[in-house]
Amino acid sequence: MKFYIKTFGCQMNEHDSEIIAGVLQQAGYRPCDELDAADIIVVNTCCIRESAENKIWGYIGNLKNIKYKRPGVIIAMLGCMTQQTTISAALKRYGSHIDIVLGTYQQHRLPEYITRAMIGNGQIVDISEDNRDFPDELPCVRTSGVTAQVNISYGCNNFCSYCIVPYVRGRERSRSLNAILSEIREAAAAGSKEIMLLGQNVNSYGKDLGEAGQNDAPDFATVLKAACAVPGIKRVRYMSSHPRDFSNALVDEISKLPQVRSYYHLPLQSGCDKTLKAMNRGYDTARYAAIIDHIREQTPEAAVTTDIIVGFPGETEDDFQATLDFIARCRFDAAYTFLYSPRSGTPAAKMADQVPLQVKKERLQRLTALQNQISLEKNQTYIGQIVHVLVEGPSKNNPEYLTGRTESNKIVILRGGMELVNQIVAVKITGAKTWHLEAL
Ligand code: SAH
Ligand code: SF4
Ligand code: F3S
Repeated sequence: MKFYIKTFGCQMNEHDSEIIAGVLQQAGYRPCDELDAADIIVVNTCCIRESAENKIWGYIGNLKNIKYKRPGVIIAMLGCMTQQTTISAALKRYGSHIDIVLGTYQQHRLPEYITRAMIGNGQIVDISEDNRDFPDELPCVRTSGVTAQVNISYGCNNFCSYCIVPYVRGRERSRSLNAILSEIREAAAAGSKEIMLLGQNVNSYGKDLGEAGQNDAPDFATVLKAACAVPGIKRVRYMSSHPRDFSNALVDEISKLPQVRSYYHLPLQSGCDKTLKAMNRGYDTARYAAIIDHIREQTPEAAVTTDIIVGFPGETEDDFQATLDFIARCRFDAAYTFLYSPRSGTPAAKMADQVPLQVKKERLQRLTALQNQISLEKNQTYIGQIVHVLVEGPSKNNPEYLTGRTESNKIVILRGGMELVNQIVAVKITGAKTWHLEAL
């Protein structure tokens, strides 16, 4: 029997889908690329913003037809969206064609539930948070031969006031350093040159490990150093870091690691101190600026990217202007920008002074215009430079060309044959756009 997995959401979810594929293959099922050919359809969901959930409701609505035409198909939904009790209750009413509903803790039990669903006794729901038996070592079928994604921690303890992740992924649990390293070694042996370390806040890695009151637990710097020491690993990335836990000492450690030091992603969220406080981020702009300055002192060649939310409750025009001014000061290489989306159950959703959608959209436009200008200027400084590109595969927009990334994580479109995939090649940059460089 064949399965098809559709994934929504972040890299963490992409990687969960690689694990789900591993678990299903181990149980004897085979992957397929076509929805219409699948006997089992798995939808791995996200709920970070309302727009994500709306897309997923649309997607599962379309699956009704498939179930109608082929009643034997098993449809399973899992992930962050279904972990919410309100959603699993709604699915009972509006999703009777969904056979299995699991959350973020029970995904590895999917094969067992598929067997039960085949016997057929109505929709099966398991969103229990009991994950004591959640195994650390699960099989995984990697979708990329170049970059291996490796979990270092699960869950999040930060409770940023706008964010639903701590509610759907639970408290932070660090994986043991041994488990992380053996997975990295395996990936390196299989040919991966780049490692992406995953955690909602990688900087607090290890705080829950070790003996209580003792200082013997590994920290994030230990993981980075150990990953870099694995033979064959040319680049190490991580996602995401939290400015509150990002110290100058960590920047100093990173600047000694050539595989890591040229790229930082440091989510700012807002450039207004009042808003940062209401977001419960635990830092202010002065502290953030000090980190950026220290990064630029240590590694002037490093690219720095960020995340920004516009229209957080109570954000005035002056507050938004403060964000624009701070962005102009920090001069990020790129910013991932989002309209604030109220998430039920989070403190911010209940705050007064929600910003009207029109105002949010207008602010997003102004922010994007400013950031695009800065991104382009930053990218133009690369023209004429020789960069080292780790080639990922054919370019999606133009399959005649290849796509890859510089050490500073900039996308480069280049010429060459498929034999260059998973190789690091030196190329001269000939053109610069807002979101990518060209070596043509
Ligand atoms: N743990 C990571 C990733 C969180 S989700 C981190 O802290 O960086 C990725 C991004 O989505 C966040 O950085 C934030 O900018 C955005 N985001 C989270 N909740 C949101 C919400 N309710 N509305 C709009 N954007 C949100
Ligand atoms: Fe959400 Fe904040 Fe945790 Fe990131 S650090 S997952 S934004 S609560
Ligand atoms: Fe990721 Fe979406 Fe869950 S962003 S952690 S899949 S809510």
